[in-house]
Amino acid sequence: MPLPYGIRHVSELPVEGKRVLVRVDFNVPLTKDRKVSDDARIVATLPTIRHLIERGARIVLCSHLGRPDGQVKPEYSLEPVAARLAALIDQDVVLTDEPVGDGARKVVGDLRDGQVALLENLRFFAGEEANDEGFARALASYCDVYVNDAFGTAHRAHASTVGVPAIVADKGAGFVMAKEIEILSRLLGDVDRPYLAVVGGAKVSDKIEVLDALLTRVDGIAIGGAMANTFLKAQGKDLAKSRVEEDKLPVARNFLRKASEARKTVYLPTDVIVADGLDATTGTAVGIDAIPAGQMALDIGPATIETYRRAIKEARTIFWNGPMGVFEKAAFANGTMAVAHAMADHKLALTVVGGGDSAAAVAKAGVADKVTHVSTGGGASLEFIQGLELPGITALRPR
Ligand code: 3PG
Repeated sequence: MPLPYGIRHVSELPVEGKRVLVRVDFNVPLTKDRKVSDDARIVATLPTIRHLIERGARIVLCSHLGRPDGQVKPEYSLEPVAARLAALIDQDVVLTDEPVGDGARKVVGDLRDGQVALLENLRFFAGEEANDEGFARALASYCDVYVNDAFGTAHRAHASTVGVPAIVADKGAGFVMAKEIEILSRLLGDVDRPYLAVVGGAKVSDKIEVLDALLTRVDGIAIGGAMANTFLKAQGKDLAKSRVEEDKLPVARNFLRKASEARKTVYLPTDVIVADGLDATTGTAVGIDAIPAGQMALDIGPATIETYRRAIKEARTIFWNGPMGVFEKAAFANGTMAVAHAMADHKLALTVVGGGDSAAAVAKAGVADKVTHVSTGGGASLEFIQGLELPGITALRPR
């Protein structure tokens, strides 16, 4: 499928012997001893990097890691990422001492065809997030061709995502970016129905805009995670000690009213797994009207799992974002794992997992390759499926 707005694919760009700046999203989780704990975002970029190596490009990768707030903070260095990438591609990856400056210029200048350099964390300089023109010019001076393969950062209008492509004429999307655009666009078009969204996570406030946007497109929404508590309380349920956003009760009530007027099905938990607190190692299933005083809901219960599983089975398009419970703990992971397996077992539907915790959950369940698509973007995938324009994609349109 061709990319929208005449955006070029990296395979259409003249890269042979050229210096190619590739914006990647290597914002990956690290362990306490600073090893990459989940390399999915690095692995995802390998097709683009290998394509460029095979064509003899001089590859300059750039990324942010975390939020160092425009300051050089060694704990946010991309050094562990460079090491992981070097192991994956089985060749040296030279990490520059700073994102721009004399050291970076020399490393880029010394690159030979097929060699790979990685600029140090772009967010060590405030110019990145400020989309500063000088910073963008410095980055642009390192390349003849610009490729954006950082779908996860496409919702940020930063120097490396918007400033550089405004300067460089030869530009396009990498393999990750192209696939994300292709698959997520299908969710905005004429999808096979029923279209079900499964939305979880901690807070209504984080997801209300997504829920509102989804309401106009889907046939049903199944809600889980702590945010379900707020909807249940808005319906008058007694949630005992469960986490509830009291100030979002009117928002939750308003959403439920809109859904009912639009005749959309909203699934909420009919039973939950409760425990004394987050430190508990076991939980008990109780009906939603029977949460004991002093207990809190930490996962959806077996009856709810069954209902959500059936809704997933009946759907022909499913988008999932956000865990159903405190899935980091085995005692409260059943709901999230059940959603992951139900999506993976579906043979007939378009099944899309929108980044972040849900992507980690399908990986943990060992079914990441059994769903149609696991997005590399968290916030970016949510903005995309709301139909919002992502500045990093817009910036790739030819002038
Ligand atoms: C992400 O992990 O969602 C992206 O890398 C963007 O990171 P940010 O939210 O710090 O801009």
